[in-house]
Amino acid sequence: MQQAPIGIFDSGYGGLTVMQEIVKKLPEYDYIYLGDNARSPYGTRSYEIVYQYTLEAVKKLADLGCKLIVLACNTASAKALRTIQQNDLPKMQKDLRVLGVIRPTTEIIGNYSNTNHIGVFATNGTVDSNSYPIEIEKFFPDVKVFQQACPLWVSLIENNEYKNEGSDFFIKKNIEDLMLQSNKIDTVLLGCTHYPLLLNKIKKYLDPSVNIISQGEIVANSLVNYLSRHSEIEQLCSKNKSRTFYTTDSPENFDLNASNFYNEKIRSNHLEY
Ligand code: DGL
Repeated sequence: MQQAPIGIFDSGYGGLTVMQEIVKKLPEYDYIYLGDNARSPYGTRSYEIVYQYTLEAVKKLADLGCKLIVLACNTASAKALRTIQQNDLPKMQKDLRVLGVIRPTTEIIGNYSNTNHIGVFATNGTVDSNSYPIEIEKFFPDVKVFQQACPLWVSLIENNEYKNEGSDFFIKKNIEDLMLQSNKIDTVLLGCTHYPLLLNKIKKYLDPSVNIISQGEIVANSLVNYLSRHSEIEQLCSKNKSRTFYTTDSPENFDLNASNFYNEKIRSNHLEY
């Protein structure tokens, strides 16, 4: 039986915040990370383009041998995952599985709220897809979901401007816009894998009584659970503790910026599509 690393994909660096937590929980496995930095951000792109880019990434990771791929990107999970699972995977290799980050999050997010009013910060793409309200309703029908698109947050992060004063304006504005939608919101989800980097600034402008939920640990726990329930897939995942990083843009830039998202030093490789 041919074993292979677990693939983790994001439009850029954000998926590293998820990988960090996955590696903490499942250190023995091999991982290949792919960041499509050359074409990031995805959050303002159309369905067709996000689907096309995500499918290309899935095919690349499958070519590299991965049998299990995690789309550590809400925008790709919202706009491309279902079509890939339903239309593309059946035409690809038999054992390939692709998972996203929205389902594991929506399965438990309702447990964090006492008021049943939950806010979601996300990219325009994720908000427009309505994936969060639709999926949360399935698990927590009493929960009301209020979404706020934050079109500039990913760009501030990808361009390493997020610690500077200028970013405060946009962070404060999007927080105020969300909280204006309901004064009962007691829990906010960072529904984009880049946003944990903004945690300090978000805390600065959000009432301290509001829970702030990042997805990394939630997705990692869900993967632990998935592997324990699917031994046929688990057996296909190799365990030599290797971590390989690919970017579609410059590896030098990737290695420099990735340290903001991931605690270990990264030496990435360029991957041509
Ligand atoms: N990290 C991605 C997400 O979780 C989004 C980034 C982007 O806009 O490319 O939605």
